[in-house]
Amino acid sequence: MDAYVADWLSLGLRWLHVIAGIAWIGTSFHFVALDNHLAPPRDPADRARGAHGEAWGVHGGGFYRTQKYLLGPRGEPLTGDLHWFKWEAYTTWLSGMGLLAIVYWWGANTYLIDRAVWGLSVPAAVGLSAASLVLGWLVYDGLCRTVRSEGVLAVLLFALAVAAAWGYGRVFGPRAAYIHVGALLGTIMVWNVFVHIIPGQREMVDALRVGREPDPRPGIVGKQRSVHNTYFTLPVVFLMVSLHYPMTYGHRHAWAVLAVIGAAGVLIRRFFVLRQSGRSAPVLAAVAVLLLRQRCVACHAERPTQPGFAQAPGGVLLDTPDRIRTAAPRIHQAAVVVRTMPIANLTGITESERATLAAWVRNGARGD
Ligand code: HEC
Repeated sequence: MDAYVADWLSLGLRWLHVIAGIAWIGTSFHFVALDNHLAPPRDPADRARGAHGEAWGVHGGGFYRTQKYLLGPRGEPLTGDLHWFKWEAYTTWLSGMGLLAIVYWWGANTYLIDRAVWGLSVPAAVGLSAASLVLGWLVYDGLCRTVRSEGVLAVLLFALAVAAAWGYGRVFGPRAAYIHVGALLGTIMVWNVFVHIIPGQREMVDALRVGREPDPRPGIVGKQRSVHNTYFTLPVVFLMVSLHYPMTYGHRHAWAVLAVIGAAGVLIRRFFVLRQSGRSAPVLAAVAVLLLRQRCVACHAERPTQPGFAQAPGGVLLDTPDRIRTAAPRIHQAAVVVRTMPIANLTGITESERATLAAWVRNGARGD
């Protein structure tokens, strides 16, 4: 195959890869958002049928009412067309592997092997590339099956991704090292779909089709894996586009750059997930408490530190979460609505901080 043909193949596969990736991640973000927007069904008849939640949406000139049934409609056979969402993921992976093969395996001498890092032979480099993806999946899957705490698991998976970045950087050229972390995380995501999520759903559907009560366990494992996929998404997309920016993969500590930006990606996704579900309230509460401590407590404490204040002005104390919760409406009035507080803005509150206080009150003004 000459380079010209390889380029066209690579272009075609890349095009497909991006399109399939958009379809997959778009669907996945949509369902995560849908899940987070579900409210308890209004109609008792829907609840009796097993509806767990429902949401209304408007898009493209029409209204959509979606209901979620955790275990399918109760006491009814599952009939009619059932739409599966799996080929988006499989196509993304297959086209991505095709690209990896054409660019990094076929072009191993140029793109994969870096003699300054390790003078591997082509078969050894390609073998390591392929084997590492399988090994990475086995480690990931093993951790998910054995570690019980999701928090501990999250820390371990993050460490695994950073270790992979470090390890690949000791084996392949810098650019190849980055794309391999992306390929590994992408492989984990798609195999989650292929090995756990879809077979689990198939089991549930088969049970429903014959009128058997489905076993909820595959659904629980599937849910765990799809949560992981959600948090992998932004780091993986970063890895895919980072190849155009040598200051990332080419950095002396490329693994550390990846650790920082990857963590940012996870947190950004986390923020949106929480925001959609209105569970940002605890986050906002923590921010509000800190913010008030910085901007208000100099005066509004039992013993104010602001010179000239012997006691809390107006008897308003803002120094504990409890007191803050109680004073929320007055805080809102003074700092967001009439904006007379902080007096003469002596403590330098900013517009965005006032907006944060407004959001905190909108979300229930929690004080913890
Ligand atoms: C430099 C000192 C100072 C700072 C800082 C300060 N305040 Fe005050 N605050 C006062 C004084 C003085 C009064 C009494 C004003 C009055 O009675 O007219 C007051 C009164 C209040 C009152 C009761 C009167 C009302 O308007 O409802 C509230 C509520 C209040 N402050 C909230 C806040 C909040 C929220 C912040 C921080 C964003 C803050 N204050 C920062 C000095 C301060």
